[in-house]
Amino acid sequence: MEPSTQKLIHTFGALADLGQEIAGTGDFTEMVRTSMHLLLGTLALRRGAVVECSGPGPLRCVAIWGLTDQGLAGFEIDEAEMESFLCGEISESLVRNESSANVFIGRHREKLANEGIELVVPMIVRGEVTGMVLLGGKASGEEFSNDDFETIRAMARHIGVGIHTHRLLEQLAQRAEENRRLYDELRTIYRDTVRAFAAAIDIKDKYTQGHSERVGRYSEIIAREMGWSEQEVEGIQIAGYLHDIGKLIVDRDIINAPYHIDAKNSSELNRHPSAGYEILAPIRHPYADIPLMAKHHHERLDGRGYPDGLTDQQIPMGAKIVALADSFDAMTTDRPYRRRRSFEDVVVDLRENSGKQFDGKVVAAFARAILKEVKGETRERRITKMLGKSYLEGEHVATLLTDLIMDLEGDFPAKAQSSSRR
Ligand SMILES: [Fe+2]
Repeated sequence: MEPSTQKLIHTFGALADLGQEIAGTGDFTEMVRTSMHLLLGTLALRRGAVVECSGPGPLRCVAIWGLTDQGLAGFEIDEAEMESFLCGEISESLVRNESSANVFIGRHREKLANEGIELVVPMIVRGEVTGMVLLGGKASGEEFSNDDFETIRAMARHIGVGIHTHRLLEQLAQRAEENRRLYDELRTIYRDTVRAFAAAIDIKDKYTQGHSERVGRYSEIIAREMGWSEQEVEGIQIAGYLHDIGKLIVDRDIINAPYHIDAKNSSELNRHPSAGYEILAPIRHPYADIPLMAKHHHERLDGRGYPDGLTDQQIPMGAKIVALADSFDAMTTDRPYRRRRSFEDVVVDLRENSGKQFDGKVVAAFARAILKEVKGETRERRITKMLGKSYLEGEHVATLLTDLIMDLEGDFPAKAQSSSRR
């Protein structure tokens, strides 16, 4: 085989390796270093470096072999020097070429020669200088041939494209990170606004302070226990905060009536789920179905609820969860005309009304979540905090919950629970 053919095959092999390095998703600096070594190895060069720049300014060393960092320190490039790289021939890149029109080489000739750099090849991508490959002479002492120049130019271009791609990916990652941060901020603002609304709703009702906030938390706990995704859990928490937003349009005296209200006032109060829907529907929420959950939080499985008298399958699962959280909080907090009910009493109510007012699957999930806290299986005691420390105390509490879960899950086998989420 002719020596020149052999060299050609070797060069193509090196180029293929370089392509693979650049396409690889590994460490960027390692990629540049390997690429430079391939170039040095292919032409048997003593030393070399790859430096990068983004616009005029200092040159940053990415890979170096046979040269020192100190030797390369302080190299800068200005606008005119970049320009002269864009229009020069490769022979202009020879440091020894005194007649070279390259202004960068002209300015740094002495320093480059002192470091043993003989060739400065720009890496040009999309009409811009992304950096330079600085090369020492051949180990054999021979001059660079035209073939060598071709090889160097091709390889420098490959490395330049690699650097350019890396920068684009970095910019992309930076923008993605910025977007994520902005999105998180927006989400926090949205949640804070919703909580402020919840507080406004609760202020109107002087007997149920903190009710909306608690319904939001109970709903979140139940949904998580039912295996909902984080996104869905966040959504139902918001729905819990806002479920009574329609009360904002109901007369304060009716909401605060100390005893049971008459039929007229009752129908006025019962407008609040539909009114809540009217308020929430035009708003673009980041979570689905929030207006519907508010609208149907007073529906019952047996069809005796309001506003639409929907039955079991027609009621969205989210509304069923909010309905239970709402009733549970009503039963476990003091009202002007009655004290809160004991936990035994509440469990009796939940058992009796499962399948009539409440969905048994939802009640079972809530009971499981409470039982986990009672048994100390959860790190946080969120339910206990809301109910007060003593409310869930006593041996009988765990037994009551276990019995309730067994009764309800007997009616709703685990398989059916997971297959009918919504
Ligand atoms: Fe309500």
